[in-house]
Amino acid sequence: MVIVMGPEATQGDIEAIVGLVQAAGVEAFVSRGVQRTIVGLVGDVTQLSAVNLRGMGGVRDVMRITAPYKLVSRENHPDRSTVHVGGVPIGPDTVTLIAGPCAVETPQQTLEAAQMAKAAGATLLRGGAYKPRTSPYAFQGLGEAGLRILADVREETGLPIVTEVVDAHDVDLVASYADMLQVGTRNAQNFALLQAVGAAGKPVMLKRGMNATIEEWLMAAEYIAQRGNLDIVLCERGIRTFETATRNTLDVSAVPVAQRLSHLPVIIDPSHSGGRRDLVLPLTRAAIAVGADGVIIDVHPHPEQALCDGPQALVNGDLRELAKIMHTFPQLMGKGVV
Ligand code: E4P
Ligand code: PEP
Repeated sequence: MVIVMGPEATQGDIEAIVGLVQAAGVEAFVSRGVQRTIVGLVGDVTQLSAVNLRGMGGVRDVMRITAPYKLVSRENHPDRSTVHVGGVPIGPDTVTLIAGPCAVETPQQTLEAAQMAKAAGATLLRGGAYKPRTSPYAFQGLGEAGLRILADVREETGLPIVTEVVDAHDVDLVASYADMLQVGTRNAQNFALLQAVGAAGKPVMLKRGMNATIEEWLMAAEYIAQRGNLDIVLCERGIRTFETATRNTLDVSAVPVAQRLSHLPVIIDPSHSGGRRDLVLPLTRAAIAVGADGVIIDVHPHPEQALCDGPQALVNGDLRELAKIMHTFPQLMGKGVV
């Protein structure tokens, strides 16, 4: 069951609801959004049927949610949500371009990649300071030094930062620099990490686990929401299939399916899904055509020297075409560009 509080609800109204619910032996999770606050109830709610919850101060609605994920379910929130990252919207009315280097390597490389991203129309900068690598011998990222570089580049370019956190212990540190926290495919079911990012007070981009069903992905989002954070963007980044021609298989149908099941914005990562530069622009067109609310794309000034994922990074020569896609495709879908 979910109790939706209106924007006029006071802290006292919320506390009254939580107190009443807890007294009935039911757990209450409060998630504060910009427009409204949701109190999710977990446990045996039958005792509450005698209480007129709808009549209590600040309450807009009381709903029984049949989906296993409650707070992120579209049943509880029929309108699709918009998440704001450093003032940049990601949501149903727009297509947001997030771009930048896969990994932060040097100040110069990060700045050049950010300038490339901006030239192509990006309004958010991506870049990993903590890299989840298959091999323990591969470049693991610069850590806090990388976060400082990102902060300097944000200062220089004005682009808010999206960056990955791979360990629950680093969440506060990464959140102190980031405008949006990213949880990657490998950590998509790291429940302690999901809970920690949920409590960090920053918007979160949750990638789909490469082996996760859409329901498992939404349950992972529910872990974040349950900690009080509804500013979550879902990112489809390809799933593992029998196909070896591409790194992973981009599941384009996941976009409309997830949008129907959840109110959260859904974006696509055409870089990590295909793993190949020549596929990034075609998959970007597909992403926008299928209704994605944004794309997140790797760019690099010198991909042949990249310490991570060089083969999938767009180069300067690709940017004109990317900018053209961003100017034309969203319009065809009745969306604006941020
Ligand atoms: C990228 O950002 C990831 O860290 C990368 O895709 C990891 O892949 P790999 O370690 O297998 O190269
Ligand atoms: C990334 O975007 O840097 C990344 C590691 O992606 P994924 O988790 O999708 O592999």
